[in-house]
Amino acid sequence: MNEEEILDGLKAICLCKGIRKKIFLKHIATGINTIEGLRKATGAGSGPCGGKRCTPRIAALLDEV
Ligand code: FES
Repeated sequence: MNEEEILDGLKAICLCKGIRKKIFLKHIATGINTIEGLRKATGAGSGPCGGKRCTPRIAALLDEV
C-alpha cells in the first residue's frame, strides 16, 4: 500500500460518526456490497444528519470498487 492509498483510506465517509474510508473498504472486502449492509456494519447513517451526507458517499464508493 503506497502513501496515497493510506491517505485516501483516512478520508471520512461518514462525517457525523467519523468513519473512514478504510473501514468501509474492509467491510466491502468481506463481501458486503450494499449501502444498507455497509450502514449496518459500520454504524454510518446513525449520526445527526441521518445519513444525508454519507449515503451518497457510500454509493460513490461502491461504484468505485
Ligand atoms: S455523515 Fe453519516 S450520519 Fe451524518
